[in-house]
Amino acid sequence: MPLTRRPFTADRLEPLLDVCARRPASPFSPDLRRRLLTRLVSGPDGVIELVDGDETVALAVAVDAVDSVADCAVLDMLAGRADAAPILDAAERFVARGPRRGLEVPLSSHTAHWRPVLDARGYRLAYTSYEMETPPQPAPPMPPLPGPTWRWITAEARHVEAYHRVVARAMGPVPGSFRGSLDDLRRRIAEGASEDLLLCGETIAGFANVGAPLPVAPDLGHVHQIGRDPDFRGRGLGPILLARALHRLAALGATRFALDVTASNTAALELYVRHGFAVVEQVPVYRRLLG
Ligand SMILES: CC(C)(COP(=O)(O)OP(=O)(O)OC[C@H]1O[C@@H](n2cnc3c(N)ncnc32)[C@H](O)[C@@H]1OP(=O)(O)O)[C@@H](O)C(=O)NCCC(=O)NCCS
Repeated sequence: MPLTRRPFTADRLEPLLDVCARRPASPFSPDLRRRLLTRLVSGPDGVIELVDGDETVALAVAVDAVDSVADCAVLDMLAGRADAAPILDAAERFVARGPRRGLEVPLSSHTAHWRPVLDARGYRLAYTSYEMETPPQPAPPMPPLPGPTWRWITAEARHVEAYHRVVARAMGPVPGSFRGSLDDLRRRIAEGASEDLLLCGETIAGFANVGAPLPVAPDLGHVHQIGRDPDFRGRGLGPILLARALHRLAALGATRFALDVTASNTAALELYVRHGFAVVEQVPVYRRLLG
């Protein structure tokens, strides 16, 4: 039977999250999947569910309510497996009507077979993303803070605007980094996400946030994002931010650590290699601008 597309409606959210948990096509946390399907996509047409009868065969989302250096949406496969054409047709139609100027498609092990179709449609390699992991190891010793006016705090509602600005300044030039809206950050903090801010006086100099280990791999902790404001470049904050993230994860039970980094991000890559991370998968990301 040919696959058909089932429109996304609010009552499909929980069943789809359940399919993601049972047949994941990406290592995203349940929280991130929920945000991708609701707040990080600008409308229900960006959620692409292919069904065979009543059964979900594949689920993808064209994530377009995010900022990135190339001003593109990104197609994330969340569950199952399918041919490229029906998913790309739906995603391209959605993105062409929306706020972003193109679509990026990461080719993970679940989508590697899409490559000839992407070539034929005019997609070109834009950048490569590395998935990195450490072997089992303790968190590194915490380096001292740069001075007496420095301290760590947990982000609260009153920090959201300044925090969002610093994330945009730090991550803005990094290819392959996608940032949600101010409203998305405000809701994340209100929902209890624990995000660490490094203050110099009252100025946010850097940030570190992590994801709790998932039940499928309770020993593996993910560093989501670390970064410093460009005004604090070259001050040696990288090792401080990473150590904070790894300590957080160790306290949550992790003995191994994982993260994603864009291959061209030399400062980050060098920092991670120095801390025992090695590349475990290379994910090429293809891009096409849509008129
Ligand atoms: C990844 C990151 C935290 C690493 O921090 P870091 O190792 O302390 O490195 P910095 O970027 O602050 O500085 C890197 C180098 O730039 C050099 N540099 C270049 N221009 C400089 C300038 N104008 N002023 C000072 N240093 C400069 C310095 O030599 C410094 O090396 P050193 O600290 O070993 O002397 C940091 O680069 C960052 O926040 N980047 C943007 C966000 C990001 O990419 N996050 C990671 C995503 S996976």
